[in-house]
Amino acid sequence: MQSPMPDPIACSGVSRRSFLRLAAAASTLASIPLVTEAHLAMAQRPHFEDPDKGIHIDANENPLGPSTAAREAIAAMIPKGGRYRMNMEGELAELFASQNGLSPDCVIPYAGSSEPLHYSVLAFTGPGKALVVGDPGYEAPMWAAAISGAEIKKVPLADAKGAASHDVKAMLAASATPGLIYICNPNNPTGTTTPRADIEWAVANAPKGTIVMIDEAYIHLSDVPTCLDMVKAGKDVIVLRTFSKLYGMAGIRLGFAAARPDLLKKLDRFGGRNSVPITALAAGMASLKEAGLVAERKKIIGDIREENLAWLKSKGYAVTPSQSNCFMLDVRRPGKEVLAAMAAKGVYIGRIWPAWPTQVRITVGTKEEMAVFRTTFEEVMSKTTAGMEPAELPWRVRETPFSHLS
Ligand SMILES: Cc1ncc(COP(=O)(O)O)c(C=O)c1O
Repeated sequence: MQSPMPDPIACSGVSRRSFLRLAAAASTLASIPLVTEAHLAMAQRPHFEDPDKGIHIDANENPLGPSTAAREAIAAMIPKGGRYRMNMEGELAELFASQNGLSPDCVIPYAGSSEPLHYSVLAFTGPGKALVVGDPGYEAPMWAAAISGAEIKKVPLADAKGAASHDVKAMLAASATPGLIYICNPNNPTGTTTPRADIEWAVANAPKGTIVMIDEAYIHLSDVPTCLDMVKAGKDVIVLRTFSKLYGMAGIRLGFAAARPDLLKKLDRFGGRNSVPITALAAGMASLKEAGLVAERKKIIGDIREENLAWLKSKGYAVTPSQSNCFMLDVRRPGKEVLAAMAAKGVYIGRIWPAWPTQVRITVGTKEEMAVFRTTFEEVMSKTTAGMEPAELPWRVRETPFSHLS
């Protein structure tokens, strides 16, 4: 006769009732899909293409990749990969905190900033606690709000043909009970910036308990001042940083949430702590220590961006005044046609936002990639693109319900 299996609940020291409560919570929380720029770009790509083939300027990636010091740090960490090295997240948080005048308990590293972005929306929005975003803007917060059940208020950017900054007054007026106000500075997709004074106004005037989340994914590429000091001042803000953009580590996965410890604690129930591979932590540490890296890369990417903006303007096209590694280009016809026609020639541009249907986002690639972009773009624009449509999407993204975002 088989001996009876031990009861895992009885063994755990957790009461049956609280176990069931935990299990129910876990089953709802375990199914949170994270939406990243890569998912969103793939969802608009006419067909899936190997990133090593063709020109990929549709996901705001950095073709420079990790810095030399970051690559060396990863290589040096590989032989040590048999250990958990639980101290490394804390060491990275301490380094970032000391560089930015913060207390280390205000900083948590994650495997990319998509994690804390989603977790913040889940923690602070829900029925009766709206998410307020700029439009066009980065869609991931809306995706998370669809899961939290929050009403989504999309507020057009102010002065759309000019500065295209977040209209903070309209954002605050959009909901009487906002849970979280999302300000991406510089903004994805436009690369445009929102003045510090406007963000300060939003933080000062948001209803008590409302979180202003400032996403600084692209800040290193711009001249805008950081809002990390608002964390130090104890405001109701969460600041997000990623290593995916200037630091070229999108595939390595590393980012930060910076906020008061009591706010950060609210993100914990969705996951994330001690989830970052030590290779990413080592690369992050090396990147932060590399003096001159930010300025050097900001110049490389900025120069290529400005060269292309000037060329497009000389050809009569309207573009956004970007301070980022992307900009919006008005193609004066349905953007999806141009996206499809370019993709047919192996140049992947995008994405497209429903609010600005004749505009296509272009990520700044290398000098060589952008030369191919310009030649291909002229060729495509010299002919009709009528009827060109993104084709069948690959199975992995076909089922992604992005329709609620439009
Ligand atoms: C505005 C913005 N925030 C956050 C992210 C998340 O980046 P990651 O999860 O790669 O750190 C991205 C990625 O493109 C982004 O554009």
